Amino acid sequence: EKGTYPHYMLKEIDEQPLVTRKIIQAYQNDSGNLTIDEEIISAVNDADRIYIVAAGTSYHAGLVGKQFIEKLAKIPVEVHIASEFGYNMPILSEKPLFIFISQSGETADSRAVLVNVTKLGYKTLTVTNVPGSTLSREADYTLLLHAGPEIAVASTKAYTAQLAVLAILAEVAGASKGFKHEFDLVQELGIVANGMEVLCDAKEEFEDIARSFLSTTRNAFFIGRGIDYYVGLEGSLKLKEISYIQAEGFAGGELKHGTIALIENGTPIIALATQESVNLSIRGNVKEVVARGANPCIISMKGLEMDGDTFIIPEVHELLTPLISVIPLQLIAYYAALHRDCDVDKPRNLAKSVTVE
Ligand code: M6R
Repeated sequence: EKGTYPHYMLKEIDEQPLVTRKIIQAYQNDSGNLTIDEEIISAVNDADRIYIVAAGTSYHAGLVGKQFIEKLAKIPVEVHIASEFGYNMPILSEKPLFIFISQSGETADSRAVLVNVTKLGYKTLTVTNVPGSTLSREADYTLLLHAGPEIAVASTKAYTAQLAVLAILAEVAGASKGFKHEFDLVQELGIVANGMEVLCDAKEEFEDIARSFLSTTRNAFFIGRGIDYYVGLEGSLKLKEISYIQAEGFAGGELKHGTIALIENGTPIIALATQESVNLSIRGNVKEVVARGANPCIISMKGLEMDGDTFIIPEVHELLTPLISVIPLQLIAYYAALHRDCDVDKPRNLAKSVTVE
């Protein structure tokens, strides 16, 4: 039930700190260490390459998940859009593992790939929010999101839950091979949950941002580099599906190869700056678009902020920034849709789960 909330989407955005804490607990053993079924970890570590297959928001989670798995477990990962995979099958490695990411566990495009690769004899793992869903039943293994039912068509808490579970999977797989790094994921996810709370408490600021940047515009661009780019893709999907503003996410460095031609006086550009290694270059991109008249909304992370930034998110580990940098984008999309009188929870032409190919 949505209780006092005007929309499920807002309620589900607000649930993200709690869901993150639930996930930490669900994947901890009695001594507080992160743990995942040994069979799943061997399936991951036996693979010479992982193929992530998903659609929409879950695909965007896969793009970030690739970074987690490659950095923490050192296994190469390819991320594929489910609907493209069937007729455009890549050359597979010798020992692939397929990971299906699906909030509903019912997406027909993803299922078609699952059925196909199962026939070919490959191992499959589904990461889903719905125990007993088709993709869960038909895969060899399942990891659950523990996010509680997601009702709004626009996926929010499932995205951050997918990221948290993929980070845990990558960490546990890496640790079982003896890889060590300087951070404690349980602690870092706790910091993420606290940061999420700070952002959920800043709704009025995001409402103001939506009002000043998006209330009359026809289009909007999201730019970032590295994982910020992937979060920008998710931000643009959120904005377009519920507010019907034409939105696109771009890699900052790619602007000059074409997209910059679209910048006019007042075009809103939402830029993410949460990564130290690319902080100067993304800011260079912001300057390029501002010089062509763009209206920049810069969302940076504490420690990397600069004069004139629009909003500064709390500091979290650099690998985990997507779990919190997406929240401003979810809230901005929510308020943009609200200001335009759109049906936030049930946008036109869309269904919560897409069960046709
Ligand atoms: O249930 P799934 O995660 O498989 O759904 C995939 C997409 O249909 C879904 O993420 C869709 O893009 C959402 N409406 C995005 O908010």
